[in-house]
Amino acid sequence: MPNKLISDSATLQPERRDFSAHANRAETAPAFLSVWDLHAYYGESYIVQGVGFNVHEGEILALLGRNGAGKTSTLRAIARLDNPRLTHGEVWLDHQPLHQMTSYQASGAGMGLVPEDRRIIPGLTVEENLQLAQIAPPVGWSLERLYSLFPRLGERRRQEGVTLSGGEQQMLAIARALARDIKVLLLDEPYEGLAPVIVDEIEKTLNIIKEQGITTVIVEQNAVRALKLADRAVILDTGAVVFDGTAKEVLENAELRAEYLAI
Ligand SMILES: Nc1ncnc2c1ncn2[C@@H]1O[C@H](COP(=O)(O)OP(=O)(O)OP(=O)(O)O)[C@@H](O)[C@H]1O
Ligand SMILES: [Mg+2]
Repeated sequence: MPNKLISDSATLQPERRDFSAHANRAETAPAFLSVWDLHAYYGESYIVQGVGFNVHEGEILALLGRNGAGKTSTLRAIARLDNPRLTHGEVWLDHQPLHQMTSYQASGAGMGLVPEDRRIIPGLTVEENLQLAQIAPPVGWSLERLYSLFPRLGERRRQEGVTLSGGEQQMLAIARALARDIKVLLLDEPYEGLAPVIVDEIEKTLNIIKEQGITTVIVEQNAVRALKLADRAVILDTGAVVFDGTAKEVLENAELRAEYLAI
């Protein structure tokens, strides 16, 4: 059952609407992923307070902000998880109204969330973790294609997933998302706890995934690394967008970084 319509204007197509007030810049081409005026709560706590931004197809967007700014909550709201509870706003992915969907339906529509804790399933091998993701259509990349992107996973295909190193588990979590037919990869702190050399490896992989046409939203505490990878950046502060522009602009604006990213 689709969720109740969240706003009255939900039937409008995103390209007919002017997002510039929310995104702080006028967009000419219609966005592939449009997030419009999201408001979401954990119980009584009002956390996501009117977040909106656009992502174009094939782009990498860095979603940044200090601890507690609302990055994870925004990703969860976009992926349509139950918490935080979305009370207002719209999420359009390739003309599909995700705000009217459950998380299961949003996943079927192409939203691939890789949560911070990676959720590798205990008791299953690397390959079984990937096969489980492919159990229901729409199926994405084949095992062969995934192993050619992540050769380490191919070498360890018979090893239990939870016994992999942190970096390998992150690769498995990304591979598992690609094993489904996703349009957008949402990554929550993919570099957390990983050595710089492993971050380099994952970064290379994310560039290859981009070349294959997947759109990515990356949340990272390691803002400089994320900005070097990303085309554009959105900065959140207390549950609202305070900057929307190019990654280069953030890298070149020390004042902005000091104020909102503490770097
Ligand atoms: N399950 C929850 N119940 C109540 N409040 C929550 C819950 N999860 C998060 N919050 C609150 O929502 C706010 C935003 O949290 P969120 O996890 O989205 O921030 P974040 O930007 O991802 O931070 P970090 O960089 O530390 O991961 C915080 O004040 C947090 O305490
Ligand atoms: Mg977080």
